[in-house]
Parts: sequence; structure tokens; C-alpha cells
Amino acid sequence: AEALRVGIAGLGTVGASVARVLRDKATELTRQCGRDIVVTAVSARDPKRDRGVDLSAAKWFDDPVKLAEKADIDVFVELIGGDEGPARASVKAALEAGRHVVTANKALLAKHGVALAEIAEKKGVLLNYEAAVAGGIPVIKTMREAMAGNAVTRVFGILNGTCNYILTRMEAEGISFDACLKDAQRLGYAEADPTFDIEGHDTAHKLSILTSLAFGTRIAAGDIYMEGISNITQADIRAAADLGYRIKLLGVAQRTDSGIEQRVHPTMVPTASVIAQVHGVTNAVAIETDILGELLLSGPGAGGNATASAVIGDIADIAKSRPGFQHAPVFGWPAKELKPYKKAR
Ligand code: HSE
Repeated sequence: AEALRVGIAGLGTVGASVARVLRDKATELTRQCGRDIVVTAVSARDPKRDRGVDLSAAKWFDDPVKLAEKADIDVFVELIGGDEGPARASVKAALEAGRHVVTANKALLAKHGVALAEIAEKKGVLLNYEAAVAGGIPVIKTMREAMAGNAVTRVFGILNGTCNYILTRMEAEGISFDACLKDAQRLGYAEADPTFDIEGHDTAHKLSILTSLAFGTRIAAGDIYMEGISNITQADIRAAADLGYRIKLLGVAQRTDSGIEQRVHPTMVPTASVIAQVHGVTNAVAIETDILGELLLSGPGAGGNATASAVIGDIADIAKSRPGFQHAPVFGWPAKELKPYKKAR
């Protein structure tokens, strides 16, 4: 089969990891997908930076929208970030040009996911976003594909690696909030603007996507009660520990009699509970359903390689898909048939 041609827009922590893993695992990926995966086009703000991977064979674009529209690619991989600007414009352009899209951009999907899914479904292309929620944990595929027929009653979890890393180290080592945040930034876990992590926005973006998958509703990121961890002190953590609890930033979505409840806030969880054992940058997602019961997935939630793993899984899915094949709906149901979101009173 012909090689799958990939264009990558954005070569930060995640984009550079994706390019390196595609190079290092080329043989395995070709065997698994039955065809080569080749990076034929790239776009980044600073083309000169050393990213530990030779991309000189790819065509470089200054403008990701041009790349999305004009490059010789089958798949457009958006790793720019941000819910507007070049990220939104390039994803829209790629879908409209009939190209598959892979993105890790939860902020974009939280705001424009349904509209973008409508374009993808109209064009018969894939919009894959496994890396957008809980980093390397394959929670999208699990909810969208493996749990067909299940009615979800509740989905909740630790969805931000940066916050969990900070809370874990504050508790274990007694270090200050600011020092922990600096380390999370140095390790490539935090968002470009870390306010998104510590004030709960990033968790809310991810939760809104999980809510849509869980309940078949339109994404409603604006309807989330949100409180971050920036006010959590050593005294809070010690007080919780004295009572037999740990503080975790949780995102929770559940069905109630009056509608759906979505919230993000620091939560005291019993020290002996499974969720309390989720340490550092690890994320965990619990899903409760009528048929399956309770499922808990945990794994690396942020960082270059963990996120790249999910991006590459999405690219490999496209490499394996057959031409002319009708793809599964982006959010589990056809975007047009998603129910309106009804907020719990
Ligand atoms: N800043 C995010 C986090 C990256 O810390 O979880 C992964 O989405």
C-alpha cells in the first residue's frame, strides 16, 4: 500500500515527541499498519530549533492553514494548541479539504468540537483526538468503541497531570506550590499558560468531552462548576491527611433526575481509596455503566511521550482504515444527533 503522508503543525513538547517516535518506531508501525507512515510536511514557529529529529526531508510551511490546505498529506496533525487562531483555522481547513485530522487540542474541542465533527462527518474523514483527554490513557476509544450499548451513569477522574503532580509532591515532600509548578513546567507537563492547569480549565475542557461521550449530549464546557488548586496550602493537605484523606483535583460528570451535573474542584478522597493512590503526573478515569459496572483506567496523563503515544495510535488507526470506509461518528453519535445538554438544577 502507499505510504500514509502526515503533516504536523506544531513542534513543541508533543509535536517533537511525535516526530521522534514516528522515526524510532518506523519498522514496527509499518508492520502493524501494513504501510509506511511518513512525515511529509511540518510547520512550527521556530524552524531552526533542535528537536532531536531530522525533518529536512519534509516540506516546511510558515502558515499551518496553508499546510492543511495545500501540502501533499493524508492526515493533518494539529499540535499547536489554543481554542481559536491557527489551531482552529487549520483544523477546519484540513477537514474541509477532505483530510483526516488528529489533534491533542482539548480546548479547541471543548469549544468547537461539535461543529468540527459535523464537517468531518460530512466529508467522511476522521477527527481523532485520543491525546486530548488524559494524555496516554486510551479513554476515548474505550468510551466510543469498546463500551457500545452501555448507559453511563457517571464518569469522573483525575484529568490534569500538572495538578496531580503538584498535589502529590506538596504532600509527599512538603514543597511549596510554586516550586512544584516550576518543575511541572520544566518536565513539559503544563499548558503554555499554566493558569489553565491550576485553575481547572484544562480539567473542565477534558471533562466536557467525556460528558458528551458518556451521555450523547452536545459539549457544554461553559456549564461546568470550576474551582482549581491554586488556593490549596500545606495546611489544607496536612488537615486532610490527619482526617485520613488526600486532596485530588477531580472532574465529575453524572446523570441526575434533573439533568447532567458537571463539576471540577479539589476533593477530599479517603487515603485508602484507589483514586488516592494515583500519584504524580498519572491520570485516572472512572466510568460507571449499567452493563459493565465500574471501570477504572489509569496511566500517564501528560508529557511528550505519553501524549505522543496517543497521537500515534490515532495516526495508526487512519493508516489501517480502508478508503471509502464509513467512519464512526466523532463523538459516538452523529454530531447532528447529539442531544442538547441539560444542566442539573
Ligand atoms: N497540561 C496538561 C496536564 C497536559 O497537565 O494534564 C495534558 O493534557
